[in-house]
Amino acid sequence: MSAPFIPPYPKRHRSDLSVLATLLSARRDLLSFWSEDSFRYQFMRRRMFNRSIFVANTPELVKYVFVTRKDNYESKSPQMRKALEPLLGDGLFISDGETWKNRRQLQNGLFDNAHIRTYSRIMSATAAEMAEQWAGLSEGSTVGVLAEMGKLTSEIIARALFGTQLGVANASAVISAFAEYQAAIEQIHVSNFLGLPEWLPVGGLNMGKARKAAARIHAIVDHIIDQAEHQPHENTLLSELLAANASGRREAISRAGIRNELIVLFMAGHETTANALSWLWYLLSQSPEAEAKLHAELAQVLNGRVPDFDDVPALPYTRAVFEEAMRLYPPVPILSRQAREDDVIRKRPVPAGSLMLVVPWLLHRHRLFWDNPDAFVPERFLDPNARPDKYLYLPFSVGPRVCLGKMFGLMESILAVATLAQRFRLALPAGTVVTHECRLTLRPRGGLPMQLLVRH
Ligand code: HEM
Repeated sequence: MSAPFIPPYPKRHRSDLSVLATLLSARRDLLSFWSEDSFRYQFMRRRMFNRSIFVANTPELVKYVFVTRKDNYESKSPQMRKALEPLLGDGLFISDGETWKNRRQLQNGLFDNAHIRTYSRIMSATAAEMAEQWAGLSEGSTVGVLAEMGKLTSEIIARALFGTQLGVANASAVISAFAEYQAAIEQIHVSNFLGLPEWLPVGGLNMGKARKAAARIHAIVDHIIDQAEHQPHENTLLSELLAANASGRREAISRAGIRNELIVLFMAGHETTANALSWLWYLLSQSPEAEAKLHAELAQVLNGRVPDFDDVPALPYTRAVFEEAMRLYPPVPILSRQAREDDVIRKRPVPAGSLMLVVPWLLHRHRLFWDNPDAFVPERFLDPNARPDKYLYLPFSVGPRVCLGKMFGLMESILAVATLAQRFRLALPAGTVVTHECRLTLRPRGGLPMQLLVRH
């Protein structure tokens, strides 16, 4: 067996940077200011302006923040809320308290096993359509892997949410307005993790532009809800949400609330998955042994068939490759919360208002908890009796605010990889150095152009 592939990672500083150097570095990239020791430390504190920032960096402390004291660390940071509010309003991702509880209860049932089975048909069919499109390209064509994966995952979530009601024109209008929104708010995301005072004007932030993009998205989604209410419609997440809301089992959500939840699902439901899949293709292209094992599993289990829901338990290596890609490149690499009340952790006071960070980027490569932490080794996820601790490996977060679409994202990724990797390989052009870009999510910089090769 050859040595496992170690993908390049951002420079790790010998010692912690000053406040100013951290800020400057973070403006470019949220992953490059961590020191070598951050991957060993258990609990860290920095002061930024008038606020303390803490990092809970062991499984025990992650459990404390996300489960034991979940009420104290429930709120997303004010900067995060401010950036996303024009688009998401009181939607799940940024709400808390009773609103969050009510919305979450309403939606949990839409992501149970039976529903995932239904959505899995959309996932397999959409991946198979992409395979047909790829088959029409000439051998060795360059494809932008991030854009292709974005097309796939946004198509899947759009069909699951809206069925065919969205239509191609609406879908592309929503997707481009999302991209505009995100470009407008990216700067505030950078500051949000560092707890800059809320009054500080943040360079590059353009809330006017963001609001216009949000209004366009609201109008399209409002129109789709109108149609769904007035016409007999397909069975979609939207129709189920309307039915659950009308069932009278709990306080009904307003029309705007339904729209906000749909937008949250659309936003949260495609970019993260597309990023994770893109990293996976890159890692596979650099790891011939892992790629060969994946191909062997697919040949044995599927023998050229498009996979379905019931095949997934028989594809443990495919799943392990995806999980290992998310360990090395967690799509949401930093989770931030604001402390409601004063607390004390490991004898250190944590004043109300402090930011508490849980950083999958650090935890997933922590020196104390992983063997060969920077190497791509899918086998570490194979033994069902030796799974990494859920408070250590948390690409979907953990606790009550765990990702609502966790099973959805896992299922669509495994089905997509199993469908596409049976027919194609993606090769990195010689001399390409892949680096990352980290804003709200972690993605390959420059869109990851790779060469599409047909497997014979
Ligand atoms: C690989 C794919 C995905 C990853 C890595 C991922 C990751 C995450 C993470 C880390 C959070 C918590 C954020 C925080 O606490 O600040 C989250 C929340 C959420 N995700 Fe995902 N996600 C993925 C796919 C999806 C999909 C496909 C959907 C919808 C279909 C979805 C819907 C949501 C929602 C609604 C929340 C907010 C939950 C709440 O606050 O109660 N996600 N996701």
